[in-house]
Amino acid sequence: MAPHIGLILGTGLGDLGERIQQKTVIPYAEIPYFPESTVQFHAGKLISGELGSKQILAMQGRFHYYEGYPMHEITLPVRVMYQLGIRTLIISNAAGGIRQEFAPGTLALVNDHINLMGDNPLIGPYETFLGSRFPDMSEPYSRLLRDLAHKTADDLGIELLDCIYAAVSGPNFETRAEIRMLQAFNVDSIGMSVVPEVLVARQLAMDVLAINAITDQALPEKMQPISHEQVSRVAKEITPTFNLLVEEIIKRI
Ligand code: HPA
Repeated sequence: MAPHIGLILGTGLGDLGERIQQKTVIPYAEIPYFPESTVQFHAGKLISGELGSKQILAMQGRFHYYEGYPMHEITLPVRVMYQLGIRTLIISNAAGGIRQEFAPGTLALVNDHINLMGDNPLIGPYETFLGSRFPDMSEPYSRLLRDLAHKTADDLGIELLDCIYAAVSGPNFETRAEIRMLQAFNVDSIGMSVVPEVLVARQLAMDVLAINAITDQALPEKMQPISHEQVSRVAKEITPTFNLLVEEIIKRI
């Protein structure tokens, strides 16, 4: 059966893909024109099957700009999902907390974003099949889906904070001065993904929901060195709560 919902599982969050029933698994390496996932802790598989009584298509691991692929390549899977009939996209990632309340282990629902990646996947020659040339961004993250996510989290007793998310290119983590700037920009969380996928999804008028798993706190006053290993470890610790929440959201969509 054709999938209705797309799911992108970020760093350390791939476990939800294992809960998919009656699944078909396709390694990215076997998909024509897909880049190869080069990041440690990213599985690099497309999984289709049933989750929360819905037909879904999940990316276990994504492509990042910092891997050196152009924006239009890292977002190709979103266009593939659209061509397969998917109109609802749930995106997840590991992110750093910029605000005091955003302690490691928190889940945050993105309600808006700032693109600080210095690039944009929508730049380039235009054909109408790509969607709108000048996509509107007044509601990049569907209000209906956000309300559903909050209601679901409340019912499950899971804390789900709202956030403004900023995407940077990476791969380095931020300096103190950069974090102070982000605080001045009213940014709550920071990461190296999500925004390119959202821009393409919105160009295609897909409904988007994005959830950050906060894996570290980047506060200039008490900054600790962070590593990719720590990000992956904390994301894995959040996994049971993340899985519970996302599966229930999918059930209710
Ligand atoms: N900064 C940028 N990207 C991230 C972070 C961070 O602190 N944590 C996880 N991804």
